[in-house]
Amino acid sequence: MFTPTAFGLPSDTGGKDLGIFLPIANGGWILSRNKPVLDGSYAYNRQVAIAAEEAGLDFIMSMSKFRGYGGDTEHWNSSLDPIVLMAALAEVTSRVKVWTTIHTIVQNPAVAAKMLATLQQVSNGRAGLNIVTGSYKGEFAQMGMWPEGVDHDARYDLAYEWIRAIKALWTEDSVTMDGKYFQLDQCESWPKPDTRPFLVCAGSSKKGMRFTSDELDAIFLSGGDSEELARASAQAKADAAELGRSVRTYSMLTVVFGDTDAEAKATAEHFREGLDEDALKGMMRAYGFLDAEIGKENAFVKKSRSGFMTAAVLGTPATVIEQLTELFETAQTDGLMLIFPDYLKAIPIFGNEVLPVLRERFPGKVKELAHG
Ligand SMILES: Cc1cc2nc3c(=O)[nH]c(=O)nc-3n(C[C@H](O)[C@H](O)[C@H](O)COP(=O)(O)O)c2cc1C
Repeated sequence: MFTPTAFGLPSDTGGKDLGIFLPIANGGWILSRNKPVLDGSYAYNRQVAIAAEEAGLDFIMSMSKFRGYGGDTEHWNSSLDPIVLMAALAEVTSRVKVWTTIHTIVQNPAVAAKMLATLQQVSNGRAGLNIVTGSYKGEFAQMGMWPEGVDHDARYDLAYEWIRAIKALWTEDSVTMDGKYFQLDQCESWPKPDTRPFLVCAGSSKKGMRFTSDELDAIFLSGGDSEELARASAQAKADAAELGRSVRTYSMLTVVFGDTDAEAKATAEHFREGLDEDALKGMMRAYGFLDAEIGKENAFVKKSRSGFMTAAVLGTPATVIEQLTELFETAQTDGLMLIFPDYLKAIPIFGNEVLPVLRERFPGKVKELAHG
């Protein structure tokens, strides 16, 4: 029987990994003029990281972005470097896992191998890496880093070479590799990480999901209700099992708390009324929509009109508990990455009111609060 590697996460033993998607870019994950200001600063993210650790959450993750979506809110026009950031946050925390993101097209694998080996030392074994292939030409062409003639699936071929090179550099004294995209000539890389960093990807295409099943430890599934997530999760696990591997599955969720459900819904409605249409157009460009389609009403626009960029739960802590219970029971995923309109207000509510009940309902599956 195949035994998955242990990473010090609840999911090592069938539990739920709960984490935070750090707001490292201004505006967070709500495309609205009417939301609380999130400046994407280090000062703010430092407080979020500490609050996440105090709440007993398992991981914090930062994305990687080189170009924002614009609009009145200048959505994501400013974003921190996720590697420098996570190294700093590793120093102000001691338990929560610190997962960074790297675009395979912007970093040579030998450089990335060393960065992660360093983050693994700094964090005392808490490092993780979200591997992204890049999909928005404008984001990379602006700095001469868009590989022309390398299409979506080929960018995953490039990612295969990239991560295989990194794994070899982490374990072998000298690596020689004559790939299509990367060449290493008796390449040496020390320090080796004491334990391998946790590797994740959020590819939602067939090729992206296959890449994750083949090479990585976890996948972020995109969108959908609990039933759709259940199907996607089962498929990802079956694909990995066929390859003699195991993969953990996560989804994302925006949580809007209110003193009453009606109040939380009214807050969401207020966000929706302030939708930043131009930022939405910028987001569509980034997702690969052609100019001719942008500005038209389609399924993507309809979904985005809420202002939320992920599935959302609106309500009192009791309502959030019910919905998370339903999600855990139906979707059978291994965890959740949370987004809040106002992280510093919401994380203590989640830690004090939601997590204790989830620990009771799912004994041994949601991590107990550590002290000290
Ligand atoms: C949780 C999550 C995190 C992501 N982080 C990034 C990121 O930091 N940078 C980026 O360019 N894309 C990011 N993406 C996009 C994915 O890497 C991926 O390209 C997208 O889901 C489309 O899948 P595909 O590449 O298989 O077509 C993220 C997506 C999700 C769901």
